[in-house]
Amino acid sequence: MTDYETLSAKEAGPDEFRDMMSGFPSGVSVVTAIGTDGQPRGMTCSSVCSVSLAPPTIVVCLRYGSPTLEAVLDSETFALNLLHSRAKSVALLFASGDPRRFDTTPWRSGPSAGGPHLVRDAHSIADCAVMLTQRVGDHVAVFGRTRLIARHQQHPPLLYGLREFRPWAAT
Ligand SMILES: Cc1cc2nc3c(=O)[nH]c(=O)nc-3n(C[C@H](O)[C@H](O)[C@H](O)COP(=O)(O)O)c2cc1C
Repeated sequence: MTDYETLSAKEAGPDEFRDMMSGFPSGVSVVTAIGTDGQPRGMTCSSVCSVSLAPPTIVVCLRYGSPTLEAVLDSETFALNLLHSRAKSVALLFASGDPRRFDTTPWRSGPSAGGPHLVRDAHSIADCAVMLTQRVGDHVAVFGRTRLIARHQQHPPLLYGLREFRPWAAT
């Protein structure tokens, strides 16, 4: 039997939680939807998880109070834009709170109900219908049934971990 030492242990506050999750690298997406005013909304989101294959379902976690979340809930649809390795500046722009973020980012409506498609910056895009929402603390978990999957760019995925962006590196 081996004894394992605990390197350190702290009560789980927001900073410790963020530190721990930074050691769990993930892909980077922009979740988009159209607001009741007809204007596009979107935010950078790495809290994304596949939930079910049949039916194809994902969950995204969006901060409570976000204009993007409001548009998602009002329209009951959204698009999940999975960013590619050359889209770091777009990931930063859509995390900045800049109200003009769509002015410099090419987008178009998808062929089915969903949200704006970031055709230059996404390698894949899923149009989703909201099927369930659950507020958890300061975020809302939005479960989306995936209706359509479009592929746009062939670049490898963009990753985020340890508070840094990295391209997926082929070995
Ligand atoms: C790499 C990265 C990942 C992020 N992931 C999330 C996330 O999963 N959920 C979230 O609510 N905010 C996330 N954010 C922060 C939002 O993008 C940021 O708060 C943004 O301003 C929200 O847009 P809004 O003004 O439309 O709410 C992330 C930011 C970065 C840089």
